[in-house]
Amino acid sequence: MNQPAEKPFYLEGNFAPVYEESTADTLEVIGAIPPELNGRLLRNGPNPQTGWSGHWFFGNGMIHGVEFEKGKANWYRNRYIRTPLFADPEGDPIAALMELDKSSANTHVIHHAGKILALEEAHLPWEVSTALDTVGVYDFGGKLTTPMTAHPKVCPVTGEMLFFAYGIFPPYLTYHRVSADGKLVQSEEITVPGGTMMHDFNVTLNYVIWMDLPAVWDISDMADGGLPIRWDPTYGARLGVMPRNGGNANVKWYDINPCYVFHPLNAYEKDNNIIVDVCRKDSIMDGDSEAPARLYRWVIDQVAGTVSERQIDDRTAEFPRVCDTVVGREYRYGYTAGLAATLPYGERYIKYDLSDYSSKTVELGAGRQGSEAVFVKDPNGTSEDDGWLLGYVYDQATDKSEVLILNASTMSEKPVARILIPARVPMGFHGSWIPF
Ligand SMILES: [Fe+2]
Repeated sequence: MNQPAEKPFYLEGNFAPVYEESTADTLEVIGAIPPELNGRLLRNGPNPQTGWSGHWFFGNGMIHGVEFEKGKANWYRNRYIRTPLFADPEGDPIAALMELDKSSANTHVIHHAGKILALEEAHLPWEVSTALDTVGVYDFGGKLTTPMTAHPKVCPVTGEMLFFAYGIFPPYLTYHRVSADGKLVQSEEITVPGGTMMHDFNVTLNYVIWMDLPAVWDISDMADGGLPIRWDPTYGARLGVMPRNGGNANVKWYDINPCYVFHPLNAYEKDNNIIVDVCRKDSIMDGDSEAPARLYRWVIDQVAGTVSERQIDDRTAEFPRVCDTVVGREYRYGYTAGLAATLPYGERYIKYDLSDYSSKTVELGAGRQGSEAVFVKDPNGTSEDDGWLLGYVYDQATDKSEVLILNASTMSEKPVARILIPARVPMGFHGSWIPF
């Protein structure tokens, strides 16, 4: 595939891929790593092995990881996920959309029922080992016959993993439920008017909430090799509330103003309402640039059949995260990367207090860019925000990256610890804290 004459943003600076898979067993630490951190901070992202893959979303997945144990950082390593798309570097990522195992596996890395899965929304998951080696494609014992979203939700109460698949062709939407021990126990086709890019969804203790938004697939629109997506407000925009154990017949749809959401922060039930907090964009793109996302609260009134919306902050915010134990439950704190005006990378981390919509901010400083920060709970903590924010931060001055550990309770500008990595970790997408 030919690289464009003018490099797009996602091949410049710290978006550019790294080509070396490395392992570092000795890492310099500034500050003190909390001894309660025992596990691995894994982060996935697109890293085109040929330097160019046609779109930011198509680069081959590469996982970066740091292992923490008893106050020490044991190692850093980065590994490609060796899918058939990796084995065929000149392969066409659009044609690969037709083959379930031909994943870039580049969007998220999660854990459930003892497995670590690299995810990308148009294909099956790929399992990797704790040392980040590729194990193989994973289809839940042959039961999963659709793609899997990169944003499944693990219920902190039942241990179930809920997810979905969207299709460019019918079926446009399929719901899946996996038991706490990893068995795919329910799959339901859900009727929506067309094929849209449905990147994420919401769960509460009793419901899933679909976001059927007007980013419509149109494969006739592939002239420039980009994503064949058309912004089409005439498609409408709606939220669909469905019982977690229900199906298509049980979905109640609510119209909302046309908008796009890549990532929700969290959702929960409150009396007759369902609260849904999201990073909302007015449109998917703003000309050739990513449209800015801002934190909004939707309140679905299940009695009146209406949805109200309220903007929480003027600043751009993306890569929203909450404590894993409050997913789908009434909660107070959310964490986002605050994005620079023109590029989708973080120049600050923001902690939101949803009880009064206040926030605390840690600025990363000149030439420093943060990717998604993950909240890790302090096992000895009592408050929801007792814990740490861990993020991969790039420093232009050294052309290297580090794991930045912040005190999530105080959001002090002074880090708890910085683990210096002898390599660059490109900006990437999503990751997880995976305890031992
Ligand atoms: Fe995402």
